Amino acid sequence: MSSVATVKEPTTGVDRGQLHAYVLDDETRRTIEQVISDLVIPHTSVRRGGVAEAVAELGQRRSPRILLVDVSGSDLPLSQVNELAEVCEPGTTVIVIGDRNDVGLFRDLMAQGVSDYLVKPISSALLQRSVLGASESSGAPRHTTRLGRIVSVVGARGGVGATLIATSCAWAIANRKRRRVALLDLDLQFGSVALHLDLDPSHGLREALENPSRIDGLYLERIMTRHSDTLQVLSAEEKLDETVYVDREALSLLLGELRSRFHFVVVDLPRQMSAATQELLALTTDLVLVSDLSLAGMRDCSRLLQLVPEANASCQITMVANRVGEHRQSGMTAADFRKGIGRTIDHMVPFDPKAVVEALNDGRAVAAGRGSTPAALVAIAEGIVGGAPAAGRGRLASFLRKWRS
Ligand SMILES: Nc1ncnc2c1ncn2[C@@H]1O[C@H](COP(=O)(O)OP(=O)(O)O)[C@@H](O)[C@H]1O
Ligand SMILES: [Mg+2]
Repeated sequence: MSSVATVKEPTTGVDRGQLHAYVLDDETRRTIEQVISDLVIPHTSVRRGGVAEAVAELGQRRSPRILLVDVSGSDLPLSQVNELAEVCEPGTTVIVIGDRNDVGLFRDLMAQGVSDYLVKPISSALLQRSVLGASESSGAPRHTTRLGRIVSVVGARGGVGATLIATSCAWAIANRKRRRVALLDLDLQFGSVALHLDLDPSHGLREALENPSRIDGLYLERIMTRHSDTLQVLSAEEKLDETVYVDREALSLLLGELRSRFHFVVVDLPRQMSAATQELLALTTDLVLVSDLSLAGMRDCSRLLQLVPEANASCQITMVANRVGEHRQSGMTAADFRKGIGRTIDHMVPFDPKAVVEALNDGRAVAAGRGSTPAALVAIAEGIVGGAPAAGRGRLASFLRKWRS
């Protein structure tokens, strides 16, 4: 007999279930319980309710690997399922059950990343097949349709505030927009993301990045540092007298695992370009380019931007001018900067050393404070969440091919 108890990653026992169902009628409930028992699925729960109950409960805790949800009687099944996707971990495989035999609805649900749509009354054979199909894809995060977005924050030069913006964006997406966020500091020696959030650096990131065979969900859960329900951090503080090697394949695997668990993976990049950071940039869905309003910043921004072909727009680019107003006399104007880079500036973040130092001293993200600088930082996060998700490997990938050549 086939069983779904053998998916690749073990259940860690924390609070992640294998299969949860929210179902509105007793007949379907009995069918689901029958299939759970036939397939010997561990860690399950079958509750009475529909998509609204699922949204309310999953907003509060970890999502199961497979979620069955009943949309019978709903006037707006599509928007409700979309709402569900916002609270659910991206790697969760969703099977929708409903009472409308409607091909249009089926297609729309599949387009949203739902694994299957079953019309009541459902037979246990049909449900069994669907659950088995779902369990196969839930063991392989890269095959699920819905994956979290990768937001890479790049400073045109050192000291322009890339780390501050990465940290604040991650904090704001997690706390103001209530999405699940992983914040990854790829500068394993000099990174300061953990310091900004008053956290201890995590242990094990270097091992994971040097050694791809270590990476699985269980290992990740062990090495991530929790900042809040919605924000987890991966960082390191490796010795300075050692060479840290980041394996390109390991980074790609790590990102794959993170994308299946978090809606957003925010990455603070180190200054040096390596094969691994190029891989990261090729997978990036949202690039945040940070600069100050200086001649050197303008030159480096336009060098980066000029390489991006206009046509194939699959990576969203957000241009941020930071430390605005720092050099009132000697700095360049935003208009001149814009002209120089040939593109608009999406966000201007005022220079405010008081707000920044206070936040650092209190060990909280600058975006959590009051005033125009925190407000501008929250606006960057809102812009990213509100923007259409990009498909990845497009415009930026070709830009990188040019970069390498
Ligand atoms: N808007 C701002 N106002 C005041 N200080 C800032 C601002 N942005 C960044 N800083 C400060 O500038 C310094 C460099 O910032 P950081 O984020 O480490 O830059 P990067 O990662 O680009 O090297 C830090 O001391 C940071 O606190
Ligand atoms: Mg930095």
